[in-house]
Amino acid sequence: MSSVVPMPAAQRRFGSNSGQPMTRRDGVLKVTGAATYAADNHPDGMLYAVTADATIARGRVVGLNVAAAKAHPGVVEVLTPANRPALAMDPDAKPHMFAFRTEVLQDETVRYAGQPIALVVAETLEAASEGARLLAPRYEAETPRLGFDGVESFEPEAVGVGSPPTTVKGDVEAGLAGAARTVEARFETPPQYHNAMEPHAIVAAWDGDRLTLDTPNQALVMSTAAFGAWFGVPAENVTIRSPFLGGGFGSKAIIFGAQVLTILAAKMLDRPVKYVLRRDQMFGPVGHRGATRQDFRIGLDDAGRLTALEHVTTSSTSSFENFLEPASNASHNLYATPALAARHSGVRWDVGTPGPMRAPGEASGSAALESAIDEAAFAAGLDPLEFRLRNYAEEDPASGKPFSAKALRECYAEGARRFGWADRPLAPRQMTDGAGRLVGWGMGTALFHAPMFQAKARAVLKADGTAVVETAGVDMGQGAWTALAQLAADGVGLDIDAVEFRSGHSGLPDGGIAGGSGHTATAGGALHAAGRDAIARLTELAVADERSPLFGAGNVGVEARDGRLHRADDPSRSESYGEILARAGLDAIEGTGQGARDPASAGDYAMFSHGAVFAEVKVDPELGQIRVSRLVGAFAAGRIVNPRLASSQLYGGMVWGLGFALEEEAVHDRRSGRIMNADLAGYHVPVNADVAEMDVILVDEVDPHVNPLGIKGVGEIGITGTVGAIANAVFHATGIRVRRFPILPADLL
Ligand code: MOS
Repeated sequence: MSSVVPMPAAQRRFGSNSGQPMTRRDGVLKVTGAATYAADNHPDGMLYAVTADATIARGRVVGLNVAAAKAHPGVVEVLTPANRPALAMDPDAKPHMFAFRTEVLQDETVRYAGQPIALVVAETLEAASEGARLLAPRYEAETPRLGFDGVESFEPEAVGVGSPPTTVKGDVEAGLAGAARTVEARFETPPQYHNAMEPHAIVAAWDGDRLTLDTPNQALVMSTAAFGAWFGVPAENVTIRSPFLGGGFGSKAIIFGAQVLTILAAKMLDRPVKYVLRRDQMFGPVGHRGATRQDFRIGLDDAGRLTALEHVTTSSTSSFENFLEPASNASHNLYATPALAARHSGVRWDVGTPGPMRAPGEASGSAALESAIDEAAFAAGLDPLEFRLRNYAEEDPASGKPFSAKALRECYAEGARRFGWADRPLAPRQMTDGAGRLVGWGMGTALFHAPMFQAKARAVLKADGTAVVETAGVDMGQGAWTALAQLAADGVGLDIDAVEFRSGHSGLPDGGIAGGSGHTATAGGALHAAGRDAIARLTELAVADERSPLFGAGNVGVEARDGRLHRADDPSRSESYGEILARAGLDAIEGTGQGARDPASAGDYAMFSHGAVFAEVKVDPELGQIRVSRLVGAFAAGRIVNPRLASSQLYGGMVWGLGFALEEEAVHDRRSGRIMNADLAGYHVPVNADVAEMDVILVDEVDPHVNPLGIKGVGEIGITGTVGAIANAVFHATGIRVRRFPILPADLL
C-alpha cells in the first residue's frame, strides 16, 4: 500500500491541529495491549454467561435438560423461557431507531439458527460453556424459508432506518419506449455478516438500582435509555464505558438479546456477569446485511444519455422484523435522467434480523448500479468514464436540489490520471500480462450521503493554559480519539498536547451515534463549537477590561491560537488565556456546543461525498482465479480533518469492496437453515495477499453548506464504487459479465 499521504492545499489553512496527518493517539495503547476492551474487564466476583443457541432455523424447542446443566459443577443459574423473570420493557418495543425485536427468551419459538434459547451462568467460562452444551435441546423443526422465490414477500413502509421505499420521478415507461436502446439486467448479492475483529461483549454490574456496563457501543447516551428501559431505571442510572471498539460497522449500534439477559442475570444473582460472543455466534443475533436481488431497466438515447433508470430491489429480512437493505436508493443521486424509479420489496427468511452494515444500501446498491451502468456504457459503445461524464448529474436527480458541493468531476479526472485510464482499450479481452493472464480495467462511481446527527460537547479552559474538552464519542477503530481531539483542540485554540480529550463514556455530553459516516462532522462539530463558546466567553472578559491589550477589540474581533487571544487587526497585541482568567479571578471558563446541520441551509441542498474508483484485475484463463492488482480511489469529502486517518478509512472501505466483489458470502444449508461457513475460515474476507497496490487520492473540496466546518464522512464511501469497479474490470478482462456476487472462479469457466 502507498503510505504517502498528500495533504490537499485547502486543508493547510484549516487550523494548527485539524488537517494534520497525525498518527493515532491511541495507537501505542492498542499495539501494546494496554487498551482495555469490554471483555478485558474482570470486576470482583464476576460470573460468566454463555448462551445455548438454536441449531434449527424454524420451529420450537420442546425439551431442555436444565437439570443436567444445573448439576454441572460451577453452574449457578440457567435462564430459559420457563423461568426468565419479567422485564420492564416489551421485547417488541422500539425505544430508538436502531432497536429491533429483541430475543430475550420470551417463548420457545425458534425463528433463526443461532437464536439464543437459554443462558447459562457459571463461576467459570468453561463451566458455563459445558452447562450450555448439557442442555441438549430437542426441537420440533420446520423447513426453513430461504431464497427469493416461493417465500413470503411484502411491500415495506420504509427501508433502512426510515427512508421511503419508493421514489419515482418522470415517466420511466415513456423513457424506455422512446429510448434508442435499452439495457435490462438482474443482479444478486448474498447475505453478509459484519464480523468486527472484536466480537460483541458485555460486562454488567449492578449497584442497587445503578447499572454499569462495559460494552462496545456506537451510540452511548442513546443506549443508556434503551438499556434502562429494560429494567425500569432511568437513563441516568445507566453508565456505559466504551473507550475502545474493535470495529462496529453498524452491528454495535443495535442492542441484542443476550446483552439484556446478561444484565438480568447480574441483577438476579447480585454479581457482575460477563458475556462474550464466540465468532460463530456473530452469524445470527447481531445483525447482518440482507441478500438482494436487483433488477434494472435503463433507457439510452443515441448519444448515450439516460432516458430512464429503474432500479427495483428485493431484499431479505427476518420473519419477525422489517429492516430492508435500501439498495435501490443508490440510484437516487448519481446520474442525470429525466425518469427515475427506485423501489423496494422484502422477502421473509428464517434468519436473524438484518441491520445497518457499513454503507447500508449503497454498498449492495452501488455494486449493482455501477455494474449496470458499465453494461449501459458498453451497449452505447462508449468508454465507461465518458459515459458517466455524459450522464453527470449537475443537480440531485431524485430531489432536484443543487449539491452542497460536488467535486466528482475532479475525482474522475485525478483518479483516471493516476490509474492511466486513457490507455484503456474499449473492447474487452484485449490485454494480457507477461504470464498469460487476462488483464481488465474497470471503474465505478462512489457516493455516500453526508448526514448530520445531534451531538453535544463541553469545553473547559483552565488558567494553566490547558483545556478539557469532552463528548461521549465512539472510536470504533476509525480514529475518533485523534480526529475528534484535533477538532476539539482547534476549537479552543490550543495545541493538541495541551488538551485533555475525554470520550467513550456515557457520562459525558451526548456525542450522538458513530454511524452513517456522520460522527466526525457531528461530534467534531460539537467539540469545536464548545471550544469556540469558551473562547467567546473569554473574549468578553478581555475586550471589556482596560488592563488588557485586547481592550476595545470587540468590533475588530480576536483570534484564538496557541493559547492566546490576538487582535485580528494587530496580532502582536495579544494575551494568554491564563492572564485573562487570572485578572478576572477565575480558575476556568466553560463553553458548550452542539453539532448539527446549519439550519439556514438544511433543506436546500443535496449533500454527499463523492468518489471514483478504478480497478485492475488479472484473471487466469484456465483456473478463473481473479487477482486485484491495482485499486485507485479518488474521493471528495469536504474538509479532511486528518488525511492519514481519512485515507486509512478509505483504504479499509476499498478493501471491504474487494471482499464484497470476490469473497464475502454467508452460505445457508437449505435443510437446516444454518450458516455453513460461520467462521473466518469459511467466511472469506480479504487478507494482505488479496490486496495488491492501492492508492487513495483526497480531492480538494470546499463545502460551505454541509455543516459549519464543511466536513463530510469517509467511513462508508470506500466500499461504494469499488465493488462495481472490480466487477467491471473482470468483464473487461474476460468478456464475461457476472451478475451475482461474490464473483467466483467457477463463474469465469
Ligand atoms: Mo454504520 S452501518 O452507520 O455503523
